This record gives sequence, structure tokens and C-alpha cells, in this order.
Amino acid sequence: MAGERLPTPPIWMMRQAGRYLPEYRATRAQAGDFLSLCYNPELAAEVTLQPIRRFGFDAAILFADILLVPQALGLDLWFVTGEGPRLSTVTTPDGLSALKPVGAIHDTLSPIYDTVRILRRELPPETTLIGFAGAPWTVATYMIAGQGTKDQAPAHALKDGDRATFAGLIERVTEATIEYLSAQIDAGAEVVKLFDSWAGSLKGPDFQDFAVEPARRIIAELKSRHPGIPVIAFPREAGPGYVGFARATGADCVALDNSVSAEWAAQNVQRDGCVQGNLAPGHMVTGGQDLVDETRRIVAAFSGGPHIFNLGHGITPDADPDNVALMVETVRSSRA
Ligand code: CP3
Repeated sequence: MAGERLPTPPIWMMRQAGRYLPEYRATRAQAGDFLSLCYNPELAAEVTLQPIRRFGFDAAILFADILLVPQALGLDLWFVTGEGPRLSTVTTPDGLSALKPVGAIHDTLSPIYDTVRILRRELPPETTLIGFAGAPWTVATYMIAGQGTKDQAPAHALKDGDRATFAGLIERVTEATIEYLSAQIDAGAEVVKLFDSWAGSLKGPDFQDFAVEPARRIIAELKSRHPGIPVIAFPREAGPGYVGFARATGADCVALDNSVSAEWAAQNVQRDGCVQGNLAPGHMVTGGQDLVDETRRIVAAFSGGPHIFNLGHGITPDADPDNVALMVETVRSSRA
């Protein structure tokens, strides 16, 4: 229950349903490909449940992707094996006008709401169901570049070169994200998380305008429509931008990447409320005593306040499921 004090922190893991699990790979093969899996409610629910059965995590995260929203707004989306996502792009006023109206997104996204409904029925009652979406800046970086980029240069170029088009795109994605998350909550999501994976590349006033402000608007609108709905925000690699992020956006919990130390974050971020994180995902590959020591250190550092144990970013396909089991066992045998 929210706010309840537990002997050890609750635990789940970013990308907990994924390629490091043989049962995930089998179900993805059954679906055909990744996107067909996202849009197949029975199979998407199945892969969401797999890590819950295997590890007994305290939360399940809906299986979907942040790039389904651009697709629902009318962009083409496909995944190139071994490389990642590809999209048709929006870089001009005409491209922006050609996007579908926000109200139309449910035509594409309704199978995702069906997945949420199945999960609410099938999850153990003690397992929290987390819905999610990408934050507008991160989603826009993919819509502008048509793929993942190391430094988000195409999005920065549009932001600095054609402010009106860029701001219009952020606006449209913000509105779509509110509708999408609101529908997930209506279908049964108990918490929602906003993934701003590229927040760290926004500097100075841009961080305020395009990471803080859209999150603040989305959270305010969700809480007005669904009073009390808890929101986790993940402004990845925000560094000093983590300080005050919860207060500035209204987020109930701030997820931390592993570039900040748990000791620093306990002092500077956790004093405003709940934090989530932040074990380096590489430990799921390497395991051993280092994994145990780091896990214990993070639990101890955050033991003075509310904390959800997680990785600092998604688990990678080369991870060993035995190391995940070791992490869960270490957290559950720690005494905060
Ligand atoms: O288990 C979960 O965490 C829930 C499902 C989930 C996925 N993607 C499934 C997925 C979630 C929450 C996401 C979020 C997501 N998607 C983010 C934000 C978090 C982050 O990682 O920073 C981003 C940036 C994306 C976009 C995306 N999707 C990329 C860049 C890629 C390719 C890179 C990669 O890891 O392969 C994906 C594909 C993707 N999304 C996979 C999964 C399980 C792997 C695809 C496969 O199975 O073939």
C-alpha cells in the first residue's frame, strides 16, 4: 500500500520483460516480431507476467513501447533487428500538420488498454501494475531523427532552428501522452511512469522548458482526472537536474540512473520524497560479490526514506537471469 513502511524496499526492474529471458524470446517468436507482440493483448500480458512468475517482483510494468504513441499519431514505425527503431520523421510545419489529431490515438492504442485489463485480472493482488509512456522530449527526439541518436543532434537542431515547429511537436506529444496514460489508468494501471531517457542532453533553460514543464503539465492533468494516481518520473542523466525535480513536476517518485551516487541522491533528491534505482545494469551481466556489495550499499544509502529498488537503466539482453535472482534475494535479505 502506498506510504506503507516495509522492512526491505519493494523491487522491480526496467525492461524486466525482455530478451535476457528465454521465455520472452519464445513468446516474441510466437507473436512474429516485437511490434506484433506489443499489439497482441494476450501475448503482451503473458510476457509482462513472465518475470513476475520467475522472480516475484513487487511490480509489473505493462509490456509496450514508448514509440507506439508516434505510430498512433500517424508515423510509420518499424524495428530493424540488431539496430533498433526506425520511424518516418516530422521536421517541418507540414509534417506537424499531417499528424493525426490526438483523439485518434485510441484507434491504434486500444489493444494496449486490453493488455492492461488482462493484467489487472491475472496479476497477484499484491503486485502493482505500472503503466508508462515516453516523456515528450524523448519521444520527439525519435520523431525528428527517425531513429535513436547518440547526442540527439537532429532534435536540438530543430529546437534551435525552427522553434515553432519544435514547440508544436512537444505540445502534440504532451497532449497525446495525457490521453494515453489516462486511458491506461482507466483500464487499471495503478501507477504510471514517464521515461525521459534523453533528458540529460537538455541544458540550461531547455531542461526547464522541455523536461520539467511537459512533465509538470502531464502530471497535473493526470492527477486532476485521477486524484491520487502516483507518478514516477525518470529524467535520465539529469545530474543536478534531479534536485528539486519532484517538487517542480509534482512527481511522487524520481527514478535515478546509475551515473549519480546513491549517497548523493539520498541527501539531495530523496529528501523531497521517494526515489527509485539505481544499480548499474552491468551487474546483471557480471554478477558475483560485486553485485551483492553494490546492492547492499544502495539499500543502505536509501534506508532513511522511501525507496523502490531498481536498476539505473534497462537490463540488457546479455544479462544472466541467475544474477537477477541474486539481486532480488540480496534486497529481500537486507534489513533497512
Ligand atoms: O519490461 C519493460 O520495461 C516494459 C516494456 C518496455 C519496452 N520499452 C519494451 C522493449 C518499456 C518500458 C520500454 C521503454 C522504452 N522504449 C524507452 C525508455 C526507456 C529506455 O530504455 O531508456 C525507449 C527509449 C524505448 C525505445 C526503444 N524500444 C528502443 C530504443 C528499442 C531498441 C533498443 C533495444 O533495447 O532493443 C526498443 C525495443 C524494445 N522495447 C525491446 C523491448 C523488450 C527489445 C525489442 C525486442 O524484443 O526485439
